[in-house]
Amino acid sequence: MNLLHARIPAGTADTAPMVAARADFLASGAYRPLADELARVCEGAGDLVIDAGAGTGYYLAHVLEAAPAAFGLALDVSAVALRRAARAHTRLGAAVWNLWEPWPVGDEVASAVLNVFAPRNGPEFHRVLRPGGLLTVAAPTPDHLRELGDLVLSVDDRKEERLDGTLGEYFARTGRTEVHRTARLTPRQIRQAVEMGPTAFHLDRGDRRARLDALAEPQAVTVSFTVSTYRRL
Ligand SMILES: C[S@@+](CC[C@H](N)C(=O)[O-])C[C@H]1O[C@@H](n2cnc3c(N)ncnc32)[C@H](O)[C@@H]1O
Repeated sequence: MNLLHARIPAGTADTAPMVAARADFLASGAYRPLADELARVCEGAGDLVIDAGAGTGYYLAHVLEAAPAAFGLALDVSAVALRRAARAHTRLGAAVWNLWEPWPVGDEVASAVLNVFAPRNGPEFHRVLRPGGLLTVAAPTPDHLRELGDLVLSVDDRKEERLDGTLGEYFARTGRTEVHRTARLTPRQIRQAVEMGPTAFHLDRGDRRARLDALAEPQAVTVSFTVSTYRRL
């Protein structure tokens, strides 16, 4: 369902090639440990889980598997991504929406909100969640994909602090775990990891494309995320 009326700035929504790269990369299982951790912390997450910036719905589908009583709503500004999300799980609905606008759902309807590498609208997280509801935020650490250098955008090392600061007014943090491993990525997976992220909008800068084309061997790459949980105050 596309509920979007206003035009959104270029470079906001994931494009069709980015979404295709993301879907293939996630299907390879490279980030499966993160999906498992999200499913673990969201186990029994109540009756409605809203995934803010759900992309292809990969993580929400895993969470729904661990929360058999829950329905999922995927919100994302990318219609191409959401077409995939709508097919990701039988208990999942999808609506194209700009997360910076008031969300198209009522107050206190959700038992849980999920946010994985996507924009964070603290006031809306708070408005749509019931008191005591669960907010789960996944974010890359500064170590994430560090071996790929400037093929991927670097992560600000004060991100966690900023995250707690933004949410502090509305939420109390209840936990933070790390998913950290070394993955052996094939040249194809490395290309997808680059093409599915924000660097995809800047691939023609410098020699990025040439370096991607030159990849021939699998490479050990750090995969590192935090999963933070919060209770709505
Ligand atoms: C890095 S991707 C993460 C997608 C998904 N959570 C995952 O990890 O597979 C960021 C997502 O946020 C979406 N997005 C970016 N800005 C947005 C906005 N203002 N409103 C809604 N979605 C947005 C993009 O379209 C993209 O699908």
